[in-house]
Amino acid sequence: MYISIIGAGLAGLSAALTLAERGIPCALISSQGSERAQSVLAEGGINAALDNMGEDDTTAEHFADTMKGGADLADPNAVKGLTDAAPDIIRRLEGYGVPFHRENGRIAQRNFGGQKKKRTVFAKSSTGKIVMSALTDEVRKYEAMGLVKRFCHHEAVDIDIAERDGRLVCGGVTFIDIYTGRKYHLDGRVILASGGLNGFFPGHTTGTVPNTGRLTALLFSKGIEIADPEFIQYHPTTVSACGKRLLISEAARGEGGRLFVMRGGERWYFMRDKYPEMGDLMPRDVVSREIWNVTHNDGCGDEVYLDLTVIPADTWQNKLSDMREEIRYQLGIDPVNEPVKISPGIHFFMGGICVDKCHRTNADGLYAAGECACQYHGANRLGGNSMLGALYGGLCAADGLAGEDVLPPEPLETGSDGGEVTTGFPDGFDGKLCDILLSGLGIVRDEKTMQAAVDRLGVLEREDLDDTQRQRLYLGKAMLMGALLRKESRGAHFRSDYPERDENYRKMTVAKYKDGGIDITYRDIPELEKGEA
Ligand code: FUM
Repeated sequence: MYISIIGAGLAGLSAALTLAERGIPCALISSQGSERAQSVLAEGGINAALDNMGEDDTTAEHFADTMKGGADLADPNAVKGLTDAAPDIIRRLEGYGVPFHRENGRIAQRNFGGQKKKRTVFAKSSTGKIVMSALTDEVRKYEAMGLVKRFCHHEAVDIDIAERDGRLVCGGVTFIDIYTGRKYHLDGRVILASGGLNGFFPGHTTGTVPNTGRLTALLFSKGIEIADPEFIQYHPTTVSACGKRLLISEAARGEGGRLFVMRGGERWYFMRDKYPEMGDLMPRDVVSREIWNVTHNDGCGDEVYLDLTVIPADTWQNKLSDMREEIRYQLGIDPVNEPVKISPGIHFFMGGICVDKCHRTNADGLYAAGECACQYHGANRLGGNSMLGALYGGLCAADGLAGEDVLPPEPLETGSDGGEVTTGFPDGFDGKLCDILLSGLGIVRDEKTMQAAVDRLGVLEREDLDDTQRQRLYLGKAMLMGALLRKESRGAHFRSDYPERDENYRKMTVAKYKDGGIDITYRDIPELEKGEA
């Protein structure tokens, strides 16, 4: 019996390896090869309290930083599992041959945002690429043994969700060969690891647009709950290049890079000035908001620069060589000699498919992990926790499914037509949806602009849309409604009309689609279970 995993990035590979290592066969279905997954773009590193830098770091501090960075909105029990597991995950990756940067014979760790201790392990500034390469190779062993069956360049077009005895149940997945149109169906349980909602914001994200968010929208339309959709992370240091946002990794600030604007003819290092303790390494929501402030309120014009000229030559050579090359290649400037003009860009979706701490959704037999799921990051993710969350999430989901009763096996192939499936989106709809969402879901929000965006969506909704467009529109609406109804500021959700945090809203937003409408409710954040502190 195959368990279907949709998505072959870090979360999907982690789930496949976990199942295969237990002798459980799985099908790994992905529209692109692992080499081109979003995870490959991750640059900066992975957080784990290895305490290799002599700073007395602990998993308890990693836990506390993650909770605080997420503005206390994450499930503390899930975060505890994540931060406790991190050192073992790094050792597991080392075992797969990942060449993490080492100093004095030990894995080195660097500074990253929202953490005072050096906790982020890295492989140059291409950590994602290097980790993915090792995991892809590891999975190949199990492909050769027949435990992992790859369906690369296959697109999942439907996930069966039905109601049985008052509960939703997942019955399997239908997918097509992108080149031949041949259609397949696999019965049974599914782990969704299809990534974030970048396809809702083409040209405005650091992420890869083939992560369309289409399956999340499809599942939402079938009654799967979405959590915290309003929390969208803007990475402070991105640059427009090649039709997307090029990421200048936080690692650059971790190694001494600093932001400035010109004020009265002089450089103003505003982060260091405003936040003497953490400076440029404040959590991303704070840094992005301060960039917004200096350009909108402090009369400094709209040009913000990242000064990397202070980084020592050996650091460039040993730890950031890929980043330097990328900036030179894509932007035509050498960051060693001149500052880089940056602005914030969409980088990560903290919200997504609502899962419990074992990564179960509200449909039996359907799990979700990685960026498509809402877990660990609360209202704002710390840099270095995304690869960790994907690795750990894949592992938890696979563990959970491995422990469940297994359905009888079914033949893999059930049909071959597949002709009626639409997998692309006409430009017109895409552009309109993106424009509307951006207008309401910026770094700083208020009732007027969000309501205007909801009204514009209402107009778009009356157009002649196909099913996929309509599903995407509803998910977009859930993002806007979540933001509109959360009358406070917390993490990445900042409202100029409600600038303070309100503890009455220390709850998870849960969006559910029913009969053409969207129901928004709030769920209490669980207490940390006894014995877990
Ligand atoms: O800035 C970065 O390198 C991003 C890392 C992350 O999002 O975890």
